[in-house]
Amino acid sequence: MIRKVKGTRDILPPESRLWGVVEAEARRIFEGFGYDEIRLPVMEPTELFVRTVGEGTDIVSKEMYTFADRKGRSLTLRPEGTAGVARAFIENGLGQRPQPMRLSYMGPMFRYEKMQRGRYRQFSQIGIELLGASTPQADVEVLLALHTFLNALGFEDLVIVLNNLGDPEDRERFVEGLKNELLPDQERLCGDCRRRWTENPLRILDCKVPICRELVAHTTPVADVVSDEAKAHVDAVAEGLSALEIPVRLAPRLVRGLDYYLRTVFEVISPALGEDTVICGGGRYDRLISDLGGKAVPGIGFAIGEDRLIDVLPDSFKHRVLDVPVVAVLPLGHEATASALALTVQLIEGGLRAPAEVSGRSLKAGLKWANKMGAAVALILGPSEIAEQMVLVRDLREGTQETVAQDTVVEKVRDLLGRGKTE
Ligand code: HAM
Repeated sequence: MIRKVKGTRDILPPESRLWGVVEAEARRIFEGFGYDEIRLPVMEPTELFVRTVGEGTDIVSKEMYTFADRKGRSLTLRPEGTAGVARAFIENGLGQRPQPMRLSYMGPMFRYEKMQRGRYRQFSQIGIELLGASTPQADVEVLLALHTFLNALGFEDLVIVLNNLGDPEDRERFVEGLKNELLPDQERLCGDCRRRWTENPLRILDCKVPICRELVAHTTPVADVVSDEAKAHVDAVAEGLSALEIPVRLAPRLVRGLDYYLRTVFEVISPALGEDTVICGGGRYDRLISDLGGKAVPGIGFAIGEDRLIDVLPDSFKHRVLDVPVVAVLPLGHEATASALALTVQLIEGGLRAPAEVSGRSLKAGLKWANKMGAAVALILGPSEIAEQMVLVRDLREGTQETVAQDTVVEKVRDLLGRGKTE
């Protein structure tokens, strides 16, 4: 037997329905804010991620699915979406369009990570990017879009944490200071962090090893050493969020696992999953497009980890999506199937979920099938009903039935289902 690749998942019904509705909600809300979808390749030149996400990051140094194609070009399965958006922005001259450009995306990303709950090698992100605006108000809008989306799904317990990374110049200064503070304990850092010491010291702040965490906890937070300008920017973001009553928690030691960020950075955490399993991450990246050879176009955005989001969906949302009543359409004999299928279309157009029996089951077996599916109502259609343009409507929960005219069946079924709901 062939099994799926480690770290990938089969998303089966009915859970797949949750994915579909979450994505539809994301489209509805983000389109409302003016974000249009950009659909990008899943593979990109490896260099794109090396130059944006950063050589010293875990993603680039040990998590990428990189391979040579038949002509020997180095390609990588995208580990994230922002780099591709920046590349596409430059390559398609999107700077010529009215600015800011609001783009959204959803789809699979790939990272060779150690498997654990909520951590996969193929996972899905839903993200938005706002390009061409550098104001704090742009950051507020992006966070409002995130907050609105999470609210629409019924979340009440998620927490947005926010920090100020300063500008790249601030960060250089910060990293010098950090190294000075950690110098006496350098030997106590984990092996990875001793490597990070030279390659990318900021990443030491991200380390999950307890001893590194403990040492880092005593260092000066990055938000304390940023320039007045950067400070004013993120303070204005916090004020804007407070004016909209969006609760945020300041997290002075939050850094992100990608190199392109500056100033505003944020994450969404779920008390249910713990602080290490982040639901969403994002921030500002004003130098990303110019670093890739484009004009100086500022940007900000985020990506939600869809797998993790689905994992902690509120029960209210799950019930709304999963408890959709089913109507089973049962033709008696093959000759009745065409009429049954035509009836099915009528029901579907009426907003109902109405699968037909097409396996040639007897009435008894058909009713068993309907019950197994959890159908609330069965519609039975035999030669005499067809001749009279009638249909037998059986309420499977009550065990009652009545014959109604085919052209009133949608109304009748809705009525039965509505009654079931209030009981
Ligand atoms: P990121 O923090 O690397 O940011 O990823 C965003 C989210 O993707 C994470 O918060 C997490 O929920 C999910 N995620 C990451 N890795 C995995 C995994 N192995 N398994 C399951 N879920 C995962 C970015 O990717 C940035 N591009 C976000 C961004 C957009 N910043 C600005 N614009």
